[in-house]
Amino acid sequence: MTNDVVNKTRRRVLTAATSVVGAVGAVGVAVPFVGSWNPSAKARAAGAPVRQNIGKIEPGQMITVEWRGRPVYIVRRTPEAIAGLAKVEGQLRDPNSEEPQQPPYAQNPTRSIREEYLVLLGLCTHLGCAPAFRPDVGAQDLGGESWQGGFFCACHGSRFDMAGRVYRGVPAPTNLEVPPHRYEGDNVLVIGEDPEEVV
Ligand code: FES
Repeated sequence: MTNDVVNKTRRRVLTAATSVVGAVGAVGVAVPFVGSWNPSAKARAAGAPVRQNIGKIEPGQMITVEWRGRPVYIVRRTPEAIAGLAKVEGQLRDPNSEEPQQPPYAQNPTRSIREEYLVLLGLCTHLGCAPAFRPDVGAQDLGGESWQGGFFCACHGSRFDMAGRVYRGVPAPTNLEVPPHRYEGDNVLVIGEDPEEVV
């Protein structure tokens, strides 16, 4: 073989080898991008905000909605329940909601955007049981006359008021969490988005 023939043969071999590496490299890079361009419907649903019509919730009633696989309690508080919040403040661990258990726009005496509606994650801040809604003022098993309504976690006896604020002397360390939420018009609550976000 002459030198010229040898060089041409080498060039062909090198060109073929480079093409194979290039193709493998391209496939290796493309797969993760394809994965991120096509998130599964389940993944999308898991992170998506939830819209809930709240127009039919009666005063004093609670409904439960699922968001990101977790229960969200929506309570339509009565004027009496709102008035009862101030009466129990002396018994609470964090009455002013100083712990970051709510978005800034819900760090107020009713822990809400509209005081009539309370929106909470329905998971006890002790070990995650679902507290029961106990709006019955004066319930004997929950302190009698001093009970102004709220939530009771039967797992280990934690109590929360009608704003989800934890009582002192119970296992739960913090108030129940207020998830991000906003309103669309009078009757639609959007769970999972802050008020300033544009949809
Ligand atoms: S999980 Fe609620 S008190 Fe323990």
